[in-house]
Amino acid sequence: MTRYAEITGWGKALPPTVLSNADLELIVETNDDWITTRSGIKERRISHVPASDMAELAARRAVAAAGVDIEAVDMIVNATCTPESIIPASASYIQAKLGAVNAGAMDLNANCSGFVYGYVTVDSLVRSGAADTVLLVGVERLSRLMDYTDRTTCILFGDGAGAVVIQSTDREAGVCGSEMGVDGTMADILCAPNDGTIEPGSADPRTRIVMNGSDVFRRAVTAMADASESVVRQAGWGLDDIDLLLPHQANQRIIDATARRLKLAPSKVFLNIHAYGNTSSASIPIALTEAIEAGRVPSRANLVFSAFGGGLTWAAAAVRFGERVEPLGVIEDELPKSDRTVWELLQPNFDYFGRLELA
Ligand code: COA
Repeated sequence: MTRYAEITGWGKALPPTVLSNADLELIVETNDDWITTRSGIKERRISHVPASDMAELAARRAVAAAGVDIEAVDMIVNATCTPESIIPASASYIQAKLGAVNAGAMDLNANCSGFVYGYVTVDSLVRSGAADTVLLVGVERLSRLMDYTDRTTCILFGDGAGAVVIQSTDREAGVCGSEMGVDGTMADILCAPNDGTIEPGSADPRTRIVMNGSDVFRRAVTAMADASESVVRQAGWGLDDIDLLLPHQANQRIIDATARRLKLAPSKVFLNIHAYGNTSSASIPIALTEAIEAGRVPSRANLVFSAFGGGLTWAAAAVRFGERVEPLGVIEDELPKSDRTVWELLQPNFDYFGRLELA
């Protein structure tokens, strides 16, 4: 009997505090019209809790939707490029908070392509029999890596978490085609310098994301469109067979270019970039959760995940969704309320990088 891997649960967790374009106008030389037309972003969220708290809530929702006990989870893969620590991997915090006593746990970092890399990896683990019930999380606290005096980066990124449960099944489901690529020679056009182990003690607490936006943009357009086209071909689908494209939400113009290449009508492309900006590894599982909740994922849907990010990485997957698009369970838990304003949450960034005094 052939083994397949099916997405059986989904969930998200977004911190409540909003950083709007109007807020950004108060701290950098920018305006709502520029940000909206160049990127499609209106708002992003700033977390008042550690990334593992966001991950825990998204995971609890996904586990409830799958209708499984947390003890049934035998592997946790945490896609992130903003771990709470390197040792231990952030996945250990998530495992502990969930009480997932029978799980292995690891972080996976492929930057903004992390969720798709993770999804293809987990699908293989489940199909091979190495795991049965896997929790795949995408979580980022990118606000911690933002210099809010740099208008070329701080307008783009936000915080959030999404998660899926992937389980073995004998019905056809899961990855039908996949691409995972990288061009490490171009890594320095999107990076956080000095954040690692080049020298003893060299990890720089002031590290921040620096980027050549237009270069990243050009490469993203080509890589996401090529990878998406390739996985659809591998799956043996025609372009008409695609039910929904779930692209990494980095820039609406990059998404539009990918959709044009796949000849997709807007109704077949999921967009929520206006609400959250770029949440890196978290963006596709958040988008998937919202798409399912909005009734945009039909039973046994043909989905395309497609992403691009630091590294420079790219990845896409043609995905056959399962039969069930209703959650088996729903939990009422929420993140704790925050009593701090967005400016209070960003004060540590202002302390490190300064804050512009606009006239
Ligand atoms: N507000 C107003 N003006 C801004 C600005 C801002 N926030 N940021 C940059 N500008 C200015 C630039 O300084 C430049 O001015 P100049 O022409 O006088 O030099 C001008 O706007 C155009 O800048 P450019 O970088 O060419 O704009 P763009 O059309 O490429 O859009 C990005 C900029 C960042 C929105 C776009 O390049 C992008 O999204 N790139 C991909 C980034 C990304 O997705 N990274 C993560 C990958 S996962």
